[in-house]
Amino acid sequence: MTAADAGGRTTPEAIRARKGGAPVVCLTAYSYPFARLLDPHVDLLLVGDSVAMVQHGHPTTLGATMEMMILHGQAVMRGSQRACVVVDMPAGSYEGSPQQALASARRIVAETGCQAVKLEGGAGMEPQIAAIVAAGIPVMGHIGLLPQSVEKDGGYTIKGGTADAVAALLADAEAVERAGAFSFVIEGTMDPVAAEITRRAAIPTVGIGASAMCDGQILVIDDAVGLTVDRVPKFVKEYADLRGVVAEAARHYAAEVRARSFPGPEHVFLPKDSQAS
Ligand code: KIV
Repeated sequence: MTAADAGGRTTPEAIRARKGGAPVVCLTAYSYPFARLLDPHVDLLLVGDSVAMVQHGHPTTLGATMEMMILHGQAVMRGSQRACVVVDMPAGSYEGSPQQALASARRIVAETGCQAVKLEGGAGMEPQIAAIVAAGIPVMGHIGLLPQSVEKDGGYTIKGGTADAVAALLADAEAVERAGAFSFVIEGTMDPVAAEITRRAAIPTVGIGASAMCDGQILVIDDAVGLTVDRVPKFVKEYADLRGVVAEAARHYAAEVRARSFPGPEHVFLPKDSQAS
């Protein structure tokens, strides 16, 4: 059962209303077939800027562009009917000013039809979030480990290990909520900090590498189904081994082509008279 069971797509407002209720189930999606497969099972599909890494082979999410996010957002919208679809704003498309953020958010919504946008940053991005929300576009926040800032931060470091870091995270969460976000992602923090942020926030938190106490969870779909070809992070649980399935299918196909046993008689087209004889 998902929040869309009453019919239609799950709205950001319906996600907001889940605070403290049934956990919000989220996954990333980047393509039409995956959107079709995941849509019946989740409340929210995030077209994450992780697409730049997992689908396009960039070393970080900084490789994502507006065009990339819009193209994948359109595919996910075509493949889904029920989930709330949120599209990530790529690095460089919103940090400059609230005006820049609003123009980019408007373009993403106009060209994909998605329900909401997501952007990274807490207190520093409060004006950007507020401007987008004021224009009627729902925003999902993202605090904690911010993949778009890894170069600046010197790598993927878990947040919330010192009293100062905890205070900064609590302030970020308050700012995102005050700006009007309907929910926010907490990524890569100490578990007790994510639990405390969740306890204090009036809107749902969605954890990744955070805490089971968050109001919802999200995983990158390639990680969740075992498609990740490089390093699998500690916070990931692989629910399937698609790496193995795909590699075995390719090996089997290659062997049959080399042995001329594929295509078989059932896969080819023969003229009617030769079928009858
Ligand atoms: O881009 C992404 O996949 C994300 C999730 C990790 C939350 O932002």
